[in-house]
Amino acid sequence: NPVRFSGVWRFHELLPFASQNELVTVGEGQTLLQQANEVAKYVGLNEGQLHLQYEGMNPSGSFKDNGMCAAVTHAKMMNAKRAACASTGNTSASLALYCSATQAMKAVIFIGSGKISYGKLSQALDYGALTIQIAGDFDDAMIRVRQVAQELGIYLVNSVNPFRLEGQKTVMYRVLEALRWEVPDWIVVPGGNLGNSSAFGKAFHELKQHGLIDRIPRLAVINAGGADTLYELVERRGVRWNGGNVNMEPIVSYNDHMDREGIRADTIASAIEINRPVNLKKCLRALEWMDGVVRQTDDQEILDAKAKIGAGGFGCEPASAASVAGARLLRREGVIAPSDKVVCILTGHELKDPTATVAYHTTDQELFNKTLGSRGVTKASHANR
Ligand code: F0G
Repeated sequence: NPVRFSGVWRFHELLPFASQNELVTVGEGQTLLQQANEVAKYVGLNEGQLHLQYEGMNPSGSFKDNGMCAAVTHAKMMNAKRAACASTGNTSASLALYCSATQAMKAVIFIGSGKISYGKLSQALDYGALTIQIAGDFDDAMIRVRQVAQELGIYLVNSVNPFRLEGQKTVMYRVLEALRWEVPDWIVVPGGNLGNSSAFGKAFHELKQHGLIDRIPRLAVINAGGADTLYELVERRGVRWNGGNVNMEPIVSYNDHMDREGIRADTIASAIEINRPVNLKKCLRALEWMDGVVRQTDDQEILDAKAKIGAGGFGCEPASAASVAGARLLRREGVIAPSDKVVCILTGHELKDPTATVAYHTTDQELFNKTLGSRGVTKASHANR
């Protein structure tokens, strides 16, 4: 019974769009919130105050499954025969898995050339997806897939799809459940296309409206330094949701600036290597609802945090570690207090982007130089581990 065994569908009352006899599931959302005291020390929080929500434990290895079961359910309700996405790996593996589970839908995935980790590509191929490599990066692939999906009438499952975000709300329901509905002080999440942050804002806003919680935690969205559009717009240019009257001028001028200068997203955290987040406006709304802040962190801090997470008995991909690196930064700034209860979302599995991890830990100088040398990850910090 999918309603009982899915960490998404057991909350189906809060996802009323989904018709009960069409639910698609492969057992997503059996994920855990765990206290991480070693990592808490690293972040600068009191013992017991840091929790990690390990979404990498999903069937295809990332939080995407929470949203994909919902999007593919909706696609099935619409009788879609094909579903498409652009991806740096996780979305494509997830879509391919859910399409194969329906036995009735073909996954079509768009990836930037050389921009997908092999583990993820191998999942998509095994699950039977049609894989299209395009010249360019994720931002280019996103533009192309939107055009193609529109022209050919293919169901699009990137996080522009509102049903995906509905499914991703359940990550927050499970966090609250694990905390016995004691609302934490902070939710910290990496920001790429800004689907999670948008979904989390909606989740808490609705729970408060339903009277199920009496206060809303604060949100911290963490960009990677080389892919920091949200940070630039919110923290430097003061862009706000403003009840939906977003001032588009700074956004347009920033995009123009990127185009003029030929600026491409660039970070070791491949999953958040995104310059044009499709959920920018929804995320601004979430930041308003959750009294949120945005920070950026660099490759060094991401890899250092990732190694601490691993040594603390967890594991995640580089993009996910941005949440812990960001929490540490906010602690140092005094925005987060040592006594605050903080939940960091680990969005993807340890086995994604293994080259970066091996290069970080290796004593093979050549490998280190080749993979991380040009990224400003210093040997000193690397050797100090
Ligand atoms: N963390 C992981 C592990 C991801 O795979 C992604 C996005 C994000 C964070 C960013 O999440 O969009 O909700 O802000 N991955 C996309 C993909 C790009 O293709 O798998 P967001």
